[in-house]
Amino acid sequence: MTLKNPEYVPGHGLIKGKSVLVTAAAGAGIGFSAATRAVEEGARGIVISDIHAGRLEASVDRLKEETGLEQVYGKVGNVAVEDDVRALVDYAEEVLDGTDILINNAGLGTSKLLVDMDDEEWHKVIDVTLNGTMRMTRYMMRVMKERARGGVIVNNASVLGWRAQKEQSHYAAAKAGVMALTRCAALEAADFDVRINAVSPSIVLHPMLRKSASQELLEELESKEAYGRAAEAWEVANVMMFLASDYSSYMTGEIVSVSSQRG
Ligand SMILES: NC(=O)c1ccc[n+]([C@@H]2O[C@H](COP(=O)([O-])OP(=O)(O)OC[C@H]3O[C@@H](n4cnc5c(N)ncnc54)[C@H](O)[C@@H]3O)[C@@H](O)[C@H]2O)c1
Repeated sequence: MTLKNPEYVPGHGLIKGKSVLVTAAAGAGIGFSAATRAVEEGARGIVISDIHAGRLEASVDRLKEETGLEQVYGKVGNVAVEDDVRALVDYAEEVLDGTDILINNAGLGTSKLLVDMDDEEWHKVIDVTLNGTMRMTRYMMRVMKERARGGVIVNNASVLGWRAQKEQSHYAAAKAGVMALTRCAALEAADFDVRINAVSPSIVLHPMLRKSASQELLEELESKEAYGRAAEAWEVANVMMFLASDYSSYMTGEIVSVSSQRG
């Protein structure tokens, strides 16, 4: 294992026999990687969800093919729509016979100076990234509380919840909100044996992100990392698996940075 060119780490059965639900899992980034890792770490069944129906269907097929697990289910859903959130969680409860682990991966960003941003753009990013995570967390907490067999929720924040970057005021505010939500909800969920933590990645480059951000900015962000590179999506997924597993049994309300940034 080198820091500059890490080798893919094989699964260690961290979540053996657990059932998993992952949102925004049909893209090229952390969501699909988290789903793959969950199966490689021993999940007995998984529901992956995304707003994009075509890519979701392809992702279900790919996940089945690459991992050999048959119990892979797809459900289209927009985390910004309460009815979709309820339908998704209810579906996962049914096909998985209860969801042990929820990974709230969905988040949305754009790049815009605050002086040029209208309310619509602000609200859209907040609604998917912060409110979407809240809706999924709230409904899953209700279900887990009622079911009374515990559970784990892992949210996806970002180092921008802590750090400043131009053109990211909406996204950074939303991710700071995800961190605060994680801490407060965790305190409440502890009463019924549910742990809630978050990862806070710095940068993961994948084709969709490369298309939407300037090459110059991406290179600048990579150069700020001690390893001189972005994280692989699976390196973030690995930390999610740790937080989803019993290895982190004494952790709740924590935000774990997945970053090699120097400042
Ligand atoms: N990529 C990075 O550098 C980075 C860094 C820090 C944090 N994050 C966070 O990681 C998470 C995953 O981002 P990623 O870049 O790895 O991409 P990803 O591939 O994991 O997620 C993109 C997917 O999200 C889906 N999606 C978009 N809006 C949705 C909605 N409203 N409901 C459901 N699904 C929706 C898209 O269709 C797409 O398939 C996000 O929360 C992001 O903010 C990413």
